[in-house]
Amino acid sequence: MKNLLVTGGAGFIGTNFVYYWLNKYPEDHIVVLDALTYAGNKANLSEAQKNPKFEFVHGNILDETLVESLLIHHKIDTIVHFAAESHVDRSIHGPDEFINTNIVGTHTLLKAAKKIWLDDKPQNHRFHHISTDEVYGSLKPNDPPFTETTPYAPNSPYAASKAASDHLVRAYHKTYGLQVTISNCSNNYGPYQFPEKLIPLIITNILNGKPLPVYGDGKQIRDWLYVDDHNLGVDLILEKGKIGETYNIGGNNEWTNIDIVKLACDLIYNKFSKNKDLVKTFSNCPSSQGKHPETLITHVKDRLGHDRRYAINAEKITSDLGYSPRESFETGIKKTLDWVLENKKWWRKIMDKSFMEWVNCNYD
Ligand code: NAD
Ligand code: TYD
Repeated sequence: MKNLLVTGGAGFIGTNFVYYWLNKYPEDHIVVLDALTYAGNKANLSEAQKNPKFEFVHGNILDETLVESLLIHHKIDTIVHFAAESHVDRSIHGPDEFINTNIVGTHTLLKAAKKIWLDDKPQNHRFHHISTDEVYGSLKPNDPPFTETTPYAPNSPYAASKAASDHLVRAYHKTYGLQVTISNCSNNYGPYQFPEKLIPLIITNILNGKPLPVYGDGKQIRDWLYVDDHNLGVDLILEKGKIGETYNIGGNNEWTNIDIVKLACDLIYNKFSKNKDLVKTFSNCPSSQGKHPETLITHVKDRLGHDRRYAINAEKITSDLGYSPRESFETGIKKTLDWVLENKKWWRKIMDKSFMEWVNCNYD
């Protein structure tokens, strides 16, 4: 039985992780610590809150006293650290929050974990740090995918802040013996993803009949993984991973951005042609007038320092821990589209005035 502290549990991956874990390990306790930034949504966890083994704490990972008291009070033995500023474009416009949360916040958690788990009353524990493949930088078309030994070369303020946090986690293991593991995952997609990220942005814009902004030539490549396959990897690392090790998680699923956008257009066009209810619900969608949504594709100015290609070599987690993603891209993207179609209240509430102001300033 574990007592977990899940930071950032009201965000996209954290929310999915909480449901994954409560479902798979009903005997475990989970405390979520989340500051509810623009990306956090307490309502995501409303089902979890019906479970007596779950508790939500509204607070910041930068609050060391709070973190220490949670570790003691809830007898936490496992931290799964998702909390972060996570959007590359926002890190280009305003890097400070990324430095505060991703670097100083991670260090605050590490200090609290060391104090409670190592200094005060030594106990068995685990600090699992969630990171990204973006720390490795950008690949050329024929480069082999990133392995755990690929040198770090982060290019955006987001990636640099995540790289710094990875180094701090590693250093707390090497220097103080904190029992850590790290995972570096490729791009995730699935339910609850904030509609500033490519896949939910494209789907919701198609449904609203708005332009589909493709940065530059759209030939940049990302390696897409369904969110619960990320959670499956984290689960295996928590259960069987070796202390002090890093594991890459990915689905061997490279796509150019423009092909992802075209795929979303095709899927929606086909769905609307077979379902009259959708036509009524989403009257601004071009498919409601029998038009193909590809007419909405708009090439816009490229992102500064835009990484050309990411790809993950997941051989280590596959061979050492028996990892294998359950979802194919075909099934995962259909599930995601269905979730967006069924949860329009969720994303319409998020796409409020402040979100639209941010989106508009991003394209200036
Ligand atoms: P997200 O932006 O959807 O959610 C982040 C959550 O962290 C939000 O609930 C937010 O309120 C919370 N948070 C932010 N600052 C905080 C603070 N100072 N204290 C407490 N809570 C705070 O992010 P996500 O996409 O779910 O990503 C989660 C983690 O996974 C991040 O560490 C990210 O770097 C990593 N990751 C994401 C992807 C991806 O494709 N989304 C891929 C690989 C790794
Ligand atoms: P994103 O979802 O922001 O993830 P990341 O930058 O962490 O990989 O973007 C995925 C890719 O899609 C990235 O190459 C940038 C591109 N992109 C667009 O072309 N248009 C958009 O509106 C957004 C948000 C992203």
